[in-house]
This record gives sequence, C-alpha cells and structure tokens, in this order.
Amino acid sequence: MAFHVEYADAPIGAVCRGLNLADIDGNDFERLSDVFDKRSVLCIRDQDLSEEQYIGFAKRFGAVEQLYMSDYAHPEHPEILIVSNIKKDGKDIGHADAGRVWHTDMSFTETPPRATMLHARELPVRDGIILGDTHFSSTADAYDSLSDEQKRKLENLQVVHDVFGRRKKTQSHTHQDDLRKQQPKVTHPFVRVHPRTGRKCLYVSAGECVAIPGVPEAEALKLIEEMAALIPQKQFHFTHKWQAGDVLVWDNCAVQHLASFDYRWPEERRLMWRITVDPIATV
Ligand code: SIN
Repeated sequence: MAFHVEYADAPIGAVCRGLNLADIDGNDFERLSDVFDKRSVLCIRDQDLSEEQYIGFAKRFGAVEQLYMSDYAHPEHPEILIVSNIKKDGKDIGHADAGRVWHTDMSFTETPPRATMLHARELPVRDGIILGDTHFSSTADAYDSLSDEQKRKLENLQVVHDVFGRRKKTQSHTHQDDLRKQQPKVTHPFVRVHPRTGRKCLYVSAGECVAIPGVPEAEALKLIEEMAALIPQKQFHFTHKWQAGDVLVWDNCAVQHLASFDYRWPEERRLMWRITVDPIATV
C-alpha cells in the first residue's frame, strides 16, 4: 500500500495517511518503523481499530507491557489502559490525570517502555475545534544543544527515579507502602544512548528524579532541574493536534511529553486507549 508521510516543521513528528493498521504488511511496517526512528513521534490518521487489531499492531513494535495501573485497564483487554476524563456511576472509567507534567513514561520502572501509543476514541470539541493537544519535545536535540563541558559533566552519571517523585504524598500509608513494594526506586543513566539511532538523549525529569548517586543532594537536585528545564524549549518542540481515529506512537527515550487539559470536565469527553511496548534496551 503506498502511504503518504508528512513531516512536521519541527525536529520530531510525522503524520501518515493511506494506511490500514489492521492489515499492514511487512514492507509498510518497516517503512513506518524507519519514519518512527527518525521522527520519534508518529501519527497514523483515520484508523478505527478493534481492541484486538490495536493490540496486534502494538505487538509489531515488541512485547506489550503489563499495566502498572490495573485499576484503569480495559475490562476485556488488560493490555489497554483507558486514559479518560469520563465518569461512570460517579467513578473515573480511566486514568484521568495522565501527562500533567513533562515526563517520559514509566521511567520509575526497571524496564521502561520504548514506545507508548494512544488510539483516539473520543475527543473533546468546542466551537468546532478539537481540544486536548499533546505536546512533545526532543531529548536528543536537547542533549545536542549542551556545551562540551556540560556533556562531560553528565558522562557516566546515573539518576534515581522514584514513582512518588518529589510531589507531596497524599495517599494513605498503606497505599504508599504497597506502591513502594511494587515500585522500588530505580536508577537509569542520565544520558541514554538510543538503542536504534545511536543518538544521545537526556533521560531526566524534574518530577520523578530525586537523586544522583555520589553527588550531594542540593547539587544533584540543581543539576536535575537545570537539565530537565532544557528539554521543553520551543526549538525542540512539536504539538500533536488530534483527529478522531488517530493512532499516535512516541519514543520514550527520544522525547518527553505533556498533555494539555484545556477541555471542560466532564462534559467535553476525551477517551484514549493506551498501550506501552518493548522495554528500552540499555546501551
Ligand atoms: C500520557 O501522558 O500518557 C497521556 C497523554 C495524553 O493524554 O495526551
């Protein structure tokens, strides 16, 4: 199938049209995968996939991950996390808060996923305009912008990622203890070498990174904040404007992302199916 690729006017981001992901052949997948490696954020327009078809497409990228927030799993397909502001019988049907700060998915786990994908099932619309954009920024371009001295300073540093981050802890003690058992603190390299492109990427976020082994606390937090603040700069930035039926895939090593919560709850409904795939290989 000849499909068309449109590149965003940004260092990341591409939009593909003319593909049916329910029935994509090996050659098309290889081309798609090349575009993904080059552009890190890839939208495939005009899809209407069943859950099975969506999971089947996700598996082309690698192993589908077990969900960490199983409370919001799709009732019949536990590989799919529901991301939504919709409530049923007074309860959230999905994770309503995903993406409020710049981050890379599940960095607080031992084996964070290489890619995340969302399939837009319902989008909030006001006065004919679709709301709820998702913003991305290139961690590879952010790394490239560092001076040689800054790059030398980060070489061989590790960072501690914590599921609680530095946020004020509001859950009950039992819930916190359970979560801590499930997700002990983990360390990852400050700079990751992308396993497929070989580019160096900043792998740090102010919300989830809490320490640098061997570096005094105040100095470590300052460095974490300084480096994390470089990532969302405009020149590294791409904004995805959603359309119904989009499947959006992003690379958790090469980009960070942020959701915009510019729609009204609960009447402007948004519903996404999210799948995370394939651990980032350590290089
Ligand atoms: C996420 O951060 O996983 C969700 C992003 C979005 O809903 O736009």
